[in-house]
Amino acid sequence: LPLAAERGMAVIVNRPFRQGALTRQLEGETLPDWAAEIGAGTWAQFILKFILSHPSVTVAIPATTSVEHVRENLLAATGPLPDAAMRDQMAAYVRDL
Ligand SMILES: NC(=O)c1ccc[n+]([C@@H]2O[C@H](COP(=O)([O-])OP(=O)(O)OC[C@H]3O[C@@H](n4cnc5c(N)ncnc54)[C@H](OP(=O)(O)O)[C@@H]3O)[C@@H](O)[C@H]2O)c1
Repeated sequence: LPLAAERGMAVIVNRPFRQGALTRQLEGETLPDWAAEIGAGTWAQFILKFILSHPSVTVAIPATTSVEHVRENLLAATGPLPDAAMRDQMAAYVRDL
């Protein structure tokens, strides 16, 4: 990612949910209240906003078989994105689950 930034290369995050392993892993966990500050109402939105807010990332292409999930995932492209401090908080929260 730093190399991409240095060379001005676009980055596609091809499997943002690790083929669903990540969303399945977080399914039973409590989304923190402060996720509302960045407009993340679900774990999928939390993950996508974390990915999209990385300065080197251009786009993420989540796959889904569900229309409801398409709508949910598209909402992650709206509203505020986390800043660097919030990104650290998000990573620490998930790491400690
Ligand atoms: N060109 C290439 O070489 C290449 C290689 C790999 C992948 N791809 C493409 O990249 C895309 C990503 O592929 P992927 O399936 O491997 O990985 P992914 O996007 O990381 O994960 C998809 C999984 O996440 C689940 N999911 C999606 N939205 C969700 C939500 N809001 N809440 C909970 N679960 C959610 C889906 O389940 P549901 O269906 O139930 O929503 C599915 O099981 C696909 O379009 C794929 O074709 C291309």
